[in-house]
Amino acid sequence: MNSLMQVLEGMARARTLVVGDVMLDRYWYGGVERISPEAPVPVVAVSRAEERPGGAANVAQNIAGLGATCLLLGLAGNDDAADSLARLLSAAGVGHRLLRDPLLNTTVKLRVVSRNQQLIRIDFETKATPDSCRGLVAACQAALSDVAAVIVSDYGKGGLNHVREIVSAGRKAGLPVIVDPKGDDYSPYQGATLITPNRKEFEQVAGRFQDEAQLERKAQDLIAELALQALLVTRSEEGMTLFERDGTRVHVPARAHEVYDVTGAGDTVIAMIGAALAVGASLIQAIHIANAAAGIVVGHLGAVAVPRAELAALLALEDRTT
Ligand SMILES: Nc1ncnc2c1ncn2[C@@H]1O[C@H](COP(=O)(O)OP(=O)(O)OP(=O)(O)O)[C@@H](O)[C@H]1O
Ligand SMILES: [Mg+2]
Repeated sequence: MNSLMQVLEGMARARTLVVGDVMLDRYWYGGVERISPEAPVPVVAVSRAEERPGGAANVAQNIAGLGATCLLLGLAGNDDAADSLARLLSAAGVGHRLLRDPLLNTTVKLRVVSRNQQLIRIDFETKATPDSCRGLVAACQAALSDVAAVIVSDYGKGGLNHVREIVSAGRKAGLPVIVDPKGDDYSPYQGATLITPNRKEFEQVAGRFQDEAQLERKAQDLIAELALQALLVTRSEEGMTLFERDGTRVHVPARAHEVYDVTGAGDTVIAMIGAALAVGASLIQAIHIANAAAGIVVGHLGAVAVPRAELAALLALEDRTT
């Protein structure tokens, strides 16, 4: 069996498709000198702005950051946010096709930050139209012959209205399909290879669990109900637990050194698993790499691509100790 380091090296040759809810993360930084005369709120004098790919776009930039090939498909508006996103994605080495719907606003999350403190977050979003959702399915189908794994990043923004067809097309093409789910109805993910809810998302569909035995029962029930190959519950500071259809249960404890900002950890998890499965790694190898990578990104501010060198160093260490 290959070492984790060998798998990581192989991941540079992965060809993947990421489809889902793309977003633009905007940050406005500035100082607060006074309170507004209009309302009891601080006035921020903006001195610096930053933009980063978010949501499915962050998943894609995590894959491209490994040197791997990634095509990103998603819906966007016909606006300057979509232009920014396209520019950022190209710069990050992500192949992208943003289907632009003039009736949509590109999803933007704007944070106003002063002295390392977020003062407010302002979200811009609109629900996708049925036509553009159809377009996304067609674009996916056209891309399947070129990739070795399909990653679905659902942030519940409505772009994945036809996710059922995307999952089944990917599986019919013989590809692993990995889904980061949202909402309280997972039936459209039926037949996926793996879904990766966080603890809260899992409890929303499966109900609360009191102990590990109950978690395992609920996980196996969901696997059976949705005909999944496996289910990964990500558990923040507790790490992550993988359940496979054959009854295998593997828990990996979290391994962050310092936790600065957990934003985007889930994106990194699904990106690493997708790229690993695309080059034939086992699910267990994939989650070890994903857990190490997530432990790194929580030490960085905002949603970022995991730095490859840092990940390589961590995996080399893990290979020596296992
Ligand atoms: N506080 C933390 N301490 C250590 N590791 C963490 C922490 N939060 C997240 N991680 C790592 O990141 C992984 C995914 O985090 P989490 O379970 O919070 O997913 P998520 O809620 O989907 O994240 P996101 O904020 O991207 O939506 C965890 O399994 C763990 O490896
Ligand atoms: Mg998540």
